[in-house]
Amino acid sequence: MKILIIGGAGYIGTKLCNYLVSKNYKITCLDNFWFGDFLHKKVQKIKADIRYYNFNKLSKFDAVIDLAYLSNDPLCELDARHTWESGPLAVYKILDYCVKKKIKKFLFASSGSIYGLKKEKKVHEGLGLDPITDYNKSKMICEKVIQSYSDKIKYTIIRPATVCGFSDRLRLDVVLNLFCYQAYYKKKISITGGSQIRPLVHIDDMIRCYEFFIKKNIVGVFNLGFENKSISNIAKEVSRQINCKITYIKTNDPRSYRISSEKILKAGFQPKFNSIDAIKDIKYNFEKGFKPTKNNWNLAWLKANKKV
Ligand SMILES: NC(=O)c1ccc[n+]([C@@H]2O[C@H](COP(=O)([O-])OP(=O)(O)OC[C@H]3O[C@@H](n4cnc5c(N)ncnc54)[C@H](O)[C@@H]3O)[C@@H](O)[C@H]2O)c1
Repeated sequence: MKILIIGGAGYIGTKLCNYLVSKNYKITCLDNFWFGDFLHKKVQKIKADIRYYNFNKLSKFDAVIDLAYLSNDPLCELDARHTWESGPLAVYKILDYCVKKKIKKFLFASSGSIYGLKKEKKVHEGLGLDPITDYNKSKMICEKVIQSYSDKIKYTIIRPATVCGFSDRLRLDVVLNLFCYQAYYKKKISITGGSQIRPLVHIDDMIRCYEFFIKKNIVGVFNLGFENKSISNIAKEVSRQINCKITYIKTNDPRSYRISSEKILKAGFQPKFNSIDAIKDIKYNFEKGFKPTKNNWNLAWLKANKKV
């Protein structure tokens, strides 16, 4: 099976591409390789910026996965134009190409933060969207563009929680991974507030979920996150695995996000990993000699290299 993974050189994409080639899928990664190249040599690579790329040059694939994005709130704030061009406008171009080439399946990484702040305890896919930031708003419009193609292509939109765990292209600007870095290298985790809830998903379950949807003929929108944990509980769990102090800074921003993933569980997907596995895996890789560099922090790296 031939799969095109757009944004496949990032934190999630690197692990996804390398996992799928290990399972004998034929993988092509199209990415501008902002954060380097940690892909297996069997992955075919196209270095390009999706804002300007002519997708019609590509041949046919069995499925297309789109992960390319300025992938959190502060990154999108760096460059709103880039956000909208590599988000909804690029999604439109990619879908047009998919329809022309009769590609059977399109999978998109949206975000669990698209719901905004909700009073409901179970934030499920049936609730309305109240996106707050450019990141969330542009993801919502991407979803609308994709849904407008529902008569032409089978699509799956995944709304992941904050992803955690090790990848050869590690991101240290996401909560649990950042705490592991602070605990291991600084011997201290600094948290602002602490009672805010954050939903989490292990990176290996995110990867497994893509394979699940590639194999199954299921269309629709699915949350993906199986633990809703407070920031202070995430920090405490990290400190149990990696001995360190925790310091608290007061905040007036007690915003909590949570998601419910009952729909994907009902569809037959079962998670295999949790946040403790993610901490142990990152610790193991630090002990084995993985050395974080500046490119593990997306924002600082893109600013320093004047990429956006
Ligand atoms: N990591 C998370 O916690 C998380 C949570 C929810 C949703 N997501 C979504 O999952 C996707 C992947 O996230 P990630 O953590 O791997 O992010 P990442 O920043 O590590 O990877 C994004 C990749 O897209 C590429 N890219 C960005 N703009 C591009 C452009 N214009 N042209 C070509 N390539 C471009 C980057 O070079 C990078 O390799 C994103 O869409 C993100 O919004 C991530």
